[in-house]
Amino acid sequence: MHPSTWAIRGGRPEARDAPLNVPPIPASNFRLPGPDDPPATRVYTRSEGTETQLALESLVGGLDGGSGLAFSSGMAAAACLFHGLAVGSSIAIPTDPYHAVEALAETGREQGRWTVTRIDPADTVGWMTALRTHDLVWVETPANPLLDVADLTTICAADRRDGTVLAVDSTFATPLVQRPLALGADVVMHSATKFLGGHSDLMAGVLVVAPDNTKLHQTLFDRRLIDGGTIGSLDAFLTVRGIRTLPLRVERGCANAQVLAERLAEDSRVTLVRYPGLATHPTHEHAVSFMHRFGAVLSFEVAGGGADASTVVSASSVINHATSLGGVESTWERRSVIPGQERIPDGLIRFSVGCEHVEDLWSDIDRSLDAAFG
Ligand SMILES: Cc1ncc(COP(=O)(O)O)c(C=O)c1O
Repeated sequence: MHPSTWAIRGGRPEARDAPLNVPPIPASNFRLPGPDDPPATRVYTRSEGTETQLALESLVGGLDGGSGLAFSSGMAAAACLFHGLAVGSSIAIPTDPYHAVEALAETGREQGRWTVTRIDPADTVGWMTALRTHDLVWVETPANPLLDVADLTTICAADRRDGTVLAVDSTFATPLVQRPLALGADVVMHSATKFLGGHSDLMAGVLVVAPDNTKLHQTLFDRRLIDGGTIGSLDAFLTVRGIRTLPLRVERGCANAQVLAERLAEDSRVTLVRYPGLATHPTHEHAVSFMHRFGAVLSFEVAGGGADASTVVSASSVINHATSLGGVESTWERRSVIPGQERIPDGLIRFSVGCEHVEDLWSDIDRSLDAAFG
C-alpha cells in the first residue's frame, strides 16, 4: 500500500461490527486475571499502552515502514533514544539541530554522560565517518530552521560500526516526503506535534524502528516504561485523526511552499530564501535525490534585519505569528529570538506554509512586507 493509502486505512479495528476508529480510551489501569485465567496482556498504561496508543503505533509504523512507538512529545521520543545510551558513549548531531535536541545533547555532555560531535548537514563524508566511530548518529533533515538537507541516500547506505544507531529526525518531511528506514536508517523520529497531528492541538512524538531491529525496539519500549514518556489517550486519538488527512495536507502545503518560495526569491524586500525545492538551495541536489516533495517549511531573510523581520511577522492577518509548525494553518516567526538560537541570522523568518489558498497567503506576505518596507 502507498503511504497515502495507509494513512487512511491503517490503525483501524478489524473485528466485525467494530467502529471504524479506535476511540480514545482514558485508562491507566486494567482488570487483572484470576489464578486460573491466561496471563494478562495489559496491566498498566505506562507499560503496555491503551488500544488508542497501539492504533497510533500501528499507523505510524506502517507509514515509515517499521515498528512504531508513541510518546508524549517529540522530545520525549528523542530523550528515550539518548537516555538509553551507556555512559561514555559518543553522539554525532548536526551543527544546528532543533534547539531542544541540542540542549539534550549538550546537557548530557556537560554531565559527562557522552561526547558530542557536530557535523555540517551537507558534510556527507563527515556523517559517514561518524557512522564508523560513534554510538548514536542523529541526522535532522530537512533541518530546523535553515532547511539544510543531508544526503540521506549515501549516509544510510554507508558502513557503520556494529551497534551504531543511525537516527533521522524526519519531522519537517513526514513519511509522505521521505522514508529514511527504506534507505537504511535504524530509527526515525517525528515530532507528531507538527505535521502528523497537523492541527496545533496536541503534543506527541513517535519513534519508528527498522523492522529487522527488534532489539532496538525492545530497548526503547523498556526505556519508555522507565522514563514515563507515554502518550495520553486523547492525544493518541487526535494524532490518528490528524494523520488521516496528512497526504492531502502535505500535498497542498508543499505546493503552496514551492510557489511562495519562488515568489519570495524574486522579491527585492527579501535577501535570501532557503527552501530545498529551489534550485539555488545549497543542498537542492540532495533533496532531489531522495525526497518525494520538498516539504512545507521555508525560511527567508528580510532586507533590513531583526527589527524589520519583527514588523513583518507581527503584521500578518492570515498567517499566524506563532512558534510551532506543521499545522493546517500557516505560521511564521523569527527564530533568532529563541534563547540559544543567536547563531540564526537576525532577519530570518521561518515560515510553515499551511493549506490556505496560495493567493491569500501571498497577499498577506506582500502586505506584511509592506508594513516594514512599504
Ligand atoms: C525538528 C524537530 N525535532 C524535534 C522537535 C521537538 O518536538 P516536540 O516539540 O513535539 O517535543 C521539534 C519541535 O519543534 C522539531 O522541530
